[in-house]
Amino acid sequence: MAKKKGGFTGRIGFVLAAAGSAVGVGNIWRFPYLAAKDGGGLFLLVYLLLVLTFGFSLLATDIIIGRKTRCSAPAAFASVRKGWGFLGKMTFAVPAIILPYYCVIGGWILKYMCDYLVGRGGIAAQDGYFSAFIQSPAAPIVFMLVYMALTAFVVYAGVEKGIERFSRIVMPALILIVAGIAVFSLTLSHTGADGVTRTGLQGLKVYLIPDFTGLTFSRFLQVLLDAMSQLFFSLSVSMGIMVTYGSYVDSEVDLNKSVRQIELCDTGVAILMGMMIIPAVYVFSGTEGMASGPSLMFVSLPKVFESMGFVGSVVGLLFFVMVTFAALTSSVSIMETLVASCMQAFGAGRKKVSLIVTGIASVAAVLVCLGYNVLYFSVPLPNGSAGQLLDVMDYISNLFLMPIISLLTCIFIGWVVGPQWAIDEVEVGGHTFSRKRMYAFMIRFAAPALMLVLFLQSVGLLK
Ligand code: PHE
Repeated sequence: MAKKKGGFTGRIGFVLAAAGSAVGVGNIWRFPYLAAKDGGGLFLLVYLLLVLTFGFSLLATDIIIGRKTRCSAPAAFASVRKGWGFLGKMTFAVPAIILPYYCVIGGWILKYMCDYLVGRGGIAAQDGYFSAFIQSPAAPIVFMLVYMALTAFVVYAGVEKGIERFSRIVMPALILIVAGIAVFSLTLSHTGADGVTRTGLQGLKVYLIPDFTGLTFSRFLQVLLDAMSQLFFSLSVSMGIMVTYGSYVDSEVDLNKSVRQIELCDTGVAILMGMMIIPAVYVFSGTEGMASGPSLMFVSLPKVFESMGFVGSVVGLLFFVMVTFAALTSSVSIMETLVASCMQAFGAGRKKVSLIVTGIASVAAVLVCLGYNVLYFSVPLPNGSAGQLLDVMDYISNLFLMPIISLLTCIFIGWVVGPQWAIDEVEVGGHTFSRKRMYAFMIRFAAPALMLVLFLQSVGLLK
């Protein structure tokens, strides 16, 4: 039988590609700053519980829909039940919003990589460096455009396979280096201006041990909201990407095992990233510093590298090079989804569509960069933080669109077609679906209920 175009070579090829899309800026930048903002341990606990139940069910559902229908999202839903095609089309909005701001963050990472390349790591560790950079008029735009161009090149030339092969080396290397830095972070100790000495091990405690003192219901909802948004973003679910990947998977592949491995890889990297960043933030800036939001990683990591002495400049460079690749495998998957959908919708060729998508995304991304200077504003968000344009876009995609799409997907699979439909697809060819009871329960009851609560909370209707 001829191999389907874009099909994966075996289960490992599929798991690696899906993990390549899942592991990115979400794990490296977003997870640590949310975990720190929400006090460490409590966030971690909530996140882990959600990934194992809810995240698992959503990830499995996306992949199952793809494999069963052999179509990408817009067509997949319609082919399961007439009249549900709108849901597939809705998923298009998510990558469309994410791509521009993802490339802005990609640009920040590139900037730091270049700093370490030319030996300016020490300067990057100074207070105020990051905010001065994002507030400057031109530099963030230039770096964003370079990052966007790199992403676009891969999609334009259709060489995803090439970078996937590359990511097989980069991924394990990234995990090793992150684990190494995480261990180093634990050895840090620093006496602040207030005369208090804080250590990495104390920071680890903050990260791992949930602190329930003074926890109110509305605070808990905020943590839940953050953990949920993180889950959608990090696992790349509810935006059509995993549906498309699922459609490339052979029917012999054991989905039960594949889903578990993707989940494990994504969550493992996130936890390690938190371990590398949060104790360090605690050491250098105490619990107040933990609330610093999106700038967290860019402010605290250079300080960690600096405290390593000369070795730090090499480690810093290696780290940012690998993070650039991890981010690229994700942004490529985001742009690819947009390009593939447009190619299908307009019947146009890859090259033309790639150029148009890149053009539009670049304009939007320039606006995101200007959100820190010319177009600066700050609005309070229902998850308790104050946001600029980038955060607002992040909020709309991850806390508004994705919960609606997941809610509808759960209703669709749980009630319209029934969970057995999905379970049968996993068990095809004699494989077992080990968490099938939980899956059915999540899809029918728990997930829709949770999503509804979150949706009401995210639009500010539930206080
Ligand atoms: N999951 C990716 C990350 O963690 C980001 C992503 C979002 C990728 C949406 C694809 C789609 O960085």
